[in-house]
Amino acid sequence: MKVLEERIRQEGQILSDTVLKVDSFLNHQVDTGLALEIGKEFGRIFGGRPITKVLTIEASGIQFAMAASIALSVPFVYAKKKKAVTLSEQVYSAPVHSFTRQESYQVCISQKYLGPGDKVLIVDDFLATGAALVGLVDIVREAGAELLGVGCVIEKCFQEGRGLLEEMGVEVHSLARISAMAPGEVHFIENEEI
Ligand code: G4P
Ligand code: NA
Ligand code: NA
Repeated sequence: MKVLEERIRQEGQILSDTVLKVDSFLNHQVDTGLALEIGKEFGRIFGGRPITKVLTIEASGIQFAMAASIALSVPFVYAKKKKAVTLSEQVYSAPVHSFTRQESYQVCISQKYLGPGDKVLIVDDFLATGAALVGLVDIVREAGAELLGVGCVIEKCFQEGRGLLEEMGVEVHSLARISAMAPGEVHFIENEEI
C-alpha cells in the first residue's frame, strides 16, 4: 500500500535494526483517514470471503479491526489481555509471551462473541514475532470457528511471525512489508497484485 509506505518513510522512526516507531499516525496518535483507507484495503483483499467477524487484540489493533469491519460490514471483537491466571469458564484464552516486553499474559475472548458458526479475519497493527497472533489463532480454533485469513498493517519480514503462522496453515497479507531497516532507511518488499 503505497500511501502507507510513504508515511512510514516520512514519519517512521527507526529506533534500532528491529524497532520501528509509528506513534505519530498509527498506534499512539491515529490518522483516522489513513486507518479507514487501511480498512478498505483489507476489505478489497479479503472481501471475497464469507467473513462474519473481524478479530484483533487490544490495544493498537483495535482501530484497524474497526476500519476493516466497517469495510466488510461485520462486527469486530478485540481480545483482552489479562495477567490474572484465574479465568471464568465463559472465556476462550491462550497464553502469549511478549518478546518485546519480556512478560507473559493471557489473551481472552468471551464465548458469547465467537463460536463455531464464525468465519474470522484476524487483523493487527504489527506482524513481528507473531506471538500475539499465534495466540489469537489458537483461540479461533478453540472456539471451533473457521479462520479465513490474517491481515497486518506492517510486517517486519526479518522476524519469524509469518513463518509461524504459515506453518499453522494460515494465509497472511500485510500492507507494508519491511525487508530491512536501519536509522534513516527502510526497505520494502513489493506486494504482488492481489
Ligand atoms: P506480535 O508479533 O504477535 O505482535 O508479538 P511481539 O511480542 O513480537 O510484539 C509485542 C508488541 O510489540 C505487540 O504489541 C506488537 O504489535 C508490538 N511491536 C512489535 N514490533 C514493533 C515495532 O517494530 N514497532 C512498534 N511500534 N510495535 C511493535 P502489543 O503487545 O499487541 O501491544 P499494544 O501496543 O497493541 O498494546
Ligand atoms: Na498489536
Ligand atoms: Na502494538
